[in-house]
Amino acid sequence: MHRQVPFHRHDLVPGDAAAVARVLATPMLTSGPVGREVEAQLAALLGTRHAGLVGSWTNGALAALLALDIGPGDEVIVPAMTFVASANVAELLGAKPLFADVDPDTLLLRPEDAVAALTPLTRAVIPVHLYGQMADMPGLRAALDKAGRADVRIVEDAAHCLEGTDRGEAPGAHSDIAIFSFYATKNVTCGEGGAYATNDPALAAAMAQTRLHGMSAGAADRFAGGAYRHWDMARLGAKANLPDLLAALLPLQLATIRDRLPRREEVAARYERGLAGLPIRMPAARPGTRSARHTFRSTCRRPCATRRSPRSTPRASASRSTTAPCRLSPTTAGDTATRRATSRQAMPGARARSPCRSTRRSRARTRTMSSTSCASRSRRSASARGSQVDSVTAKSSGARHSASQSGGAGRGTSPSAARPISTGVRAT
Ligand SMILES: Cc1ncc(COP(=O)(O)O)c(C=O)c1O
Repeated sequence: MHRQVPFHRHDLVPGDAAAVARVLATPMLTSGPVGREVEAQLAALLGTRHAGLVGSWTNGALAALLALDIGPGDEVIVPAMTFVASANVAELLGAKPLFADVDPDTLLLRPEDAVAALTPLTRAVIPVHLYGQMADMPGLRAALDKAGRADVRIVEDAAHCLEGTDRGEAPGAHSDIAIFSFYATKNVTCGEGGAYATNDPALAAAMAQTRLHGMSAGAADRFAGGAYRHWDMARLGAKANLPDLLAALLPLQLATIRDRLPRREEVAARYERGLAGLPIRMPAARPGTRSARHTFRSTCRRPCATRRSPRSTPRASASRSTTAPCRLSPTTAGDTATRRATSRQAMPGARARSPCRSTRRSRARTRTMSSTSCASRSRRSASARGSQVDSVTAKSSGARHSASQSGGAGRGTSPSAARPISTGVRAT
């Protein structure tokens, strides 16, 4: 018997729908007072001086790179282990993404990895808090400064890490700016959306413009106080604002997000117990961090066999053997039934599928592996060069319908219940 587990079921509640209905009853559907309140709520949650809402992580990062004046001729360091958006934003602006190695244990960019990838053209580093665990931000800042590169900006990819901390500090504390995602599968969601947090007032002021076409005042500001205020096109900007219609879904979720983290941790611990003994490993925890537990990931211990496609070029097969995420539809921890494999590319160009010997030997029987060619575009290689990384990704949600409220069934399933809540097959 095998069980299909959906990657994600949102757990929005009637109160969220009511908040949207309240916005619908006003003339202000785009960015306005609701968003402002959420921004204040976010700044308080994260402990930063400024926070703003954006249409997605990707749009927020584009607005941030525009605000930092990054473009053609510039290089941006990105960890080789990430979701493609972290590199795309540099590429889209004409800058060059340079992939840096990651720690093979934590899968996070280390300060020394970033320093090793520096060139005179480097303008920014985008460390990624993969799966919810924070990379070393104070260490990265110190390492860049020590390398004489205080000019290099740090833009945290905190898409997975709204409630994660490192020694009690949230993303945004040690970087120029941290950017979050409220995409449909994230710990907090409004379907599509995102946010940024920064302690830099100049960058916050620039972001307010670059997220909105470069205009000096958005619709709400122009009519604030009843009198019309003229606006200018102050700079080049993107269309990256979040409308109040979507922002309305956030306040209730943000109010409870930290309280829901223990539930996510409980579900993740159950996966860990259930997977113990299999020839796979989970990313190591960095001391002092508390993961947001966005997704649950495990990796094959042994290199996997690659099957060369007869039509593949030597270059393509070389890149295929670099990093090859393989995702499974997870079942409940401890379930030894056959697990169906599902793959999804983390990077463009991934097509070939190959069986993984080590996982075939494990109790989890059926797998499909996808590969990526992202590192072929990089001057630097991923840590896993020459071997393939086979992974299991599952999403463990701290559902807002708690087990106690729902009697332990459905979306607020208790660890002992038959099906896990909100688990998945993709890392994003
Ligand atoms: C690590 C990471 N960064 C960035 C993004 C892009 O986020 P968004 O879809 O909000 O643009 C994702 C997507 O899920 C992601 O997983």
